[in-house]
Amino acid sequence: MRYLTAGESHGPQLTTIIEGVPAGLPLVAEDINEELARRQKGHGRGRRMQIEKDQVQILSGVRHGVTLGSPITLVVENKDFTHWTKIMGADPLEDENAEVKRVISRPRPGHADLNGAIKYNHRDMRNVLERSSARETTVRVAAGAVAKKILKELGIEMGGHVLEIGGVKAEHLTYESLNELREKTEASPVRCLDQKAEKIMMEAIDTAKENGDSIGGIVEVIAEGMPVGVGSYTHYDNKLDAKLAAAIMSINAFKGAEIGIGFEAARKPGSEVHDEIAWDIENGYTRKTNNAGGFEGGMTTGMPVVVRGVMKPIPTLYKPLQSVDIETKEAFAASIERSDSCAVPAASVVAESVVAWELARALVSQFGQDNMEVIKKNIIQHQQRARVF
Ligand SMILES: Cc1cc2nc3c(=O)[nH]c(=O)nc-3n(C[C@H](O)[C@H](O)[C@H](O)COP(=O)(O)O)c2cc1C
Repeated sequence: MRYLTAGESHGPQLTTIIEGVPAGLPLVAEDINEELARRQKGHGRGRRMQIEKDQVQILSGVRHGVTLGSPITLVVENKDFTHWTKIMGADPLEDENAEVKRVISRPRPGHADLNGAIKYNHRDMRNVLERSSARETTVRVAAGAVAKKILKELGIEMGGHVLEIGGVKAEHLTYESLNELREKTEASPVRCLDQKAEKIMMEAIDTAKENGDSIGGIVEVIAEGMPVGVGSYTHYDNKLDAKLAAAIMSINAFKGAEIGIGFEAARKPGSEVHDEIAWDIENGYTRKTNNAGGFEGGMTTGMPVVVRGVMKPIPTLYKPLQSVDIETKEAFAASIERSDSCAVPAASVVAESVVAWELARALVSQFGQDNMEVIKKNIIQHQQRARVF
């Protein structure tokens, strides 16, 4: 399975073409729209999210609510494009005036503006920011929604939540089931399980906003029900934990990834890190703990997959940082595009999506590829063998 995305932040639409989704997967627009709506929520989002009410159009690869095995095209229109037809249109402009083009010559520290402009030889940094914008994550969430459907069909449950915002840590993280985690976090404006921390996180976001500043945080994604042995130790690019880390790092503004206890493992002896192995007839091999976050040797252990990602504060600040105008070379305050003050809750939905994609992709490639029936049968057989191995 693979996908490409295309589209600019203020262009007419965002598009993804997904190839390799097995035939026989039930899929309707509502499955995707639900996830798109989740990405748009969250305390700290800016005005853009009030303009856009993202809705997907499924333009190929699905017939009568079921996937065909052929490429799936998903499109999300940018409602805001009606105001940007001149600035972002594909046709040559009669009037090349910089005002009309809304030319940007002042790069924002922390964004792709300056490096992208030098690399692609763009004097107008709008040519960079329109694509480097996290608006692109809309269709990554759409592709992730398809992956989540595959996982659900295969009995794998997913959840995600926010662990930290602007240095405020969630403390009470207990939940009975992923269902409960999903219900609680869906009701939280910052997708946090800890209601006490939630309030302080929201205050921190409000304070950052008042100060024209931004704050980052940490998100966690959990997947339960992955069979043992998905991924491989045999070659570096078959290691599924490495793919998950790359997927997390590919999200805009993400600067770190952890599997299981992650960096904490550096501070503990092996006897407190490695998960002891047990066996019983009903469950087969299990682990008494899950510090490894569901991975050993680049393969799943059968325990819940636990992945965390670190998001830096958003680069666009209403209180701009110093920068240099590339036309005049004069010091300037960096220019302001419409911006969020904190997008960590939304980013946790993006993190779920990219993790779901990698897990579904690994399962499909390992257990049968063409149709959901065969994949399901192969997984059941594999699990029966693993239990009594
Ligand atoms: C959901 C989400 C929303 C974001 N919103 C903004 C935003 O409003 N303004 C901004 O400057 N950056 C935003 N970002 C972060 C930038 O897209 C990102 O910092 C930029 O592409 C540069 O890439 P890098 O930070 O990975 O180096 C957002 C990121 C995510 C995941």
